[in-house]
Amino acid sequence: MTNVEMRRADGNRRGVALIALAVLSASVIWWLIALPVLGGQKAAAHARHYPHVYAHALGGTGMLFLGAAALYVGLTRRFFRWHRWIGGLYLGLGALGAGMGLALSIMSPHPLPGVGVATGVLALAWLAVAAMAWRAAHNKRFDSHREWMVRSYVLTWTFVFCRMVMQMPAAIAASPDVIVAIIWASWITPLLGCEIALQWRAGARV
Ligand code: HEM
Repeated sequence: MTNVEMRRADGNRRGVALIALAVLSASVIWWLIALPVLGGQKAAAHARHYPHVYAHALGGTGMLFLGAAALYVGLTRRFFRWHRWIGGLYLGLGALGAGMGLALSIMSPHPLPGVGVATGVLALAWLAVAAMAWRAAHNKRFDSHREWMVRSYVLTWTFVFCRMVMQMPAAIAASPDVIVAIIWASWITPLLGCEIALQWRAGARV
């Protein structure tokens, strides 16, 4: 094996480990937050906007699990004949999830000043990044497609990160201003970390 092949194999192993961690954490948060919505137990709590929240949770479920599957297939090339279908379904269900997330942000059904702006901008960022991923695949620019898909999944996974942070006692007791700041930080920080990781080699010593 050449040095380049060994580096690539190492990178793939790290990528698979990260995807496994993302799926594990997503499963726990999905069980705690999304399942009660999809199972109807949260219908009364969301009363008039339940159809929107239901469609959002359904799309979000596709985003969380199909996104991880698409990245796994793209990285390892296993089951590659399904890659286009899995990726297409991820983007389609993701558009539903993020579109409903945007609608809910505008409707602000449980008003807390500033939350709608933080989640609404996240929804728009997800839609823009997904559109870039789709465009690159459509134009057969696969290096660019891979990077936009990674950014897109990082934005998807920020749902898990945000909900994990919100379970912490300090966050539960926080003031509305601090909660809004946590929501902004919980998607901008992972996106920035992802960008640094994606661009790391581009700035390396030549
Ligand atoms: C683009 C990313 C996302 C945005 C912008 C977003 C936005 C929102 C907004 C604004 C709400 C509040 C609705 C309300 O006040 O009733 C909400 C709730 C919810 N979201 Fe998301 N979301 C995103 C990702 C996800 C993902 C990936 C899932 C995974 C299943 C998800 C599942 C849920 C669930 C289950 C609720 C209701 C929670 C509850 O019952 O308290 N969201 N989301």
